[in-house]
Amino acid sequence: TNTVSKEEGLDHTLSLLKEGYDFIPNRVRKFDSKIVETRILGKKTICISGKDAAEIFYDTNRFKRKGVAPGRIQKSLFGEGGVQGLDGEEHRHRKAMFMSLMSSECLKVLDEITEKQWQIAIDKWKSMDAVVLFEEAEEIMCRIACSWAGVPLWAKDLELRTMDLSAMIDAFGAVGPRHWEGRRARTRTERWISYMIRQVRTGKIAADEDTALYQIAWHEDPKGNLLDIKTAAVELINILRPIVAIGRFITFGAVALHENPEKRNKVFTDEAGYRQMFVQEVRRYYPFGPFLGALVREKFTWKGYEFKKRTLVLLDIYGTNHSPELWEYPDIFWPERFSEWDGSPFNFIPQGGGEYDIGHRCAGEGITVQIMNTSLKYLSGKIDYDVPLQDLNYSKLRIPSIPKSRFIMKNVRHV
Ligand code: HEM
Repeated sequence: TNTVSKEEGLDHTLSLLKEGYDFIPNRVRKFDSKIVETRILGKKTICISGKDAAEIFYDTNRFKRKGVAPGRIQKSLFGEGGVQGLDGEEHRHRKAMFMSLMSSECLKVLDEITEKQWQIAIDKWKSMDAVVLFEEAEEIMCRIACSWAGVPLWAKDLELRTMDLSAMIDAFGAVGPRHWEGRRARTRTERWISYMIRQVRTGKIAADEDTALYQIAWHEDPKGNLLDIKTAAVELINILRPIVAIGRFITFGAVALHENPEKRNKVFTDEAGYRQMFVQEVRRYYPFGPFLGALVREKFTWKGYEFKKRTLVLLDIYGTNHSPELWEYPDIFWPERFSEWDGSPFNFIPQGGGEYDIGHRCAGEGITVQIMNTSLKYLSGKIDYDVPLQDLNYSKLRIPSIPKSRFIMKNVRHV
């Protein structure tokens, strides 16, 4: 067998922090190989990139997820005991519960909530001097998330809950204060949501049967036992937090509209499905998830390289979505490309790849696309606004990234 292109040196954790989204793409380029071995957090790590890599990464016979997320990520972003770290039958059973929340009926309810919350927000913005879209979008998403999931949210708590859900997302890829902020946010949020689960189980809140609150509170494991309260809270937060995360894509979407004014009207009128293509291009082009991790189950050989048991393997999300082999002019924002996209589950992976039920692909991808679609309808034509001079640049070294100014809008008005 060949040996993997191997980066010399003791440990490249620091480079990971310094190179951000380009950590794997830089190495793929430097070694001219889609399989590169390095060391991260003291452990041998194999980075893989591209469509074939995604296909092998989502082969559950070869990889597992249990024990992959480092403690610091569990304490902030993910929580402990959630679906992300399950394998095999246990994963399939838990994932089926998540996917049952994504029925067309549930999505319809979600769309009605989304429309309503945008209208409420816009009425508020009209009387504001300046609107910071990122902050507002996260707040709108928090209202949508709680309303859809059936979680009671008092107006006075909206700011705190939004900030906490946001801080957990922001902690990913952070060291220092941003990481600690994320941990505190998780502790507070788990306390809040555990209380809600308890209220449902003791009959103090009457939750609708088709809400995430109800389904998660009463979910039984394969042996027929309810989840322990903390795990149930972690899973309900796995619905709330990522809906708030859509606020980032919405902000990037606003940047894309601003920088491509000639596309704005086509997005609004949705000519020939253009809005959907625009949404997909936002998810491809802008940086969000950098890579995913999994552990080798049993030793195997792939493309002549040996993957030893228990080795950590990272799949390059950002680089795959920007691979010149898969995307023409990958660094140009060009929604039209999606009219010819082949729909492969492995070449366009902003929210993971493969299958939803068997694999770990994002349970909320359909939701994300739907909420972005409605949100961009509002931003492209239901309202008009001025975009004052500001720094819209975003750093590819900061994970997760966000435009520096958070997208400031002035003089928001109904069209
Ligand atoms: C998993 C990204 C929105 C729920 C994932 C994964 C990624 C991702 C990269 C991991 C895939 C893997 O491990 O193979 C995103 C992004 C989002 C988003 C960028 C939008 C900003 C959502 C939404 C929900 C959601 C709206 C639910 C309401 C989940 C769940 C998992 C997951 C439950 C775990 C799936 C599993 O382990 O089987 N997401 N997601 N996500 N996402 Fe999302």
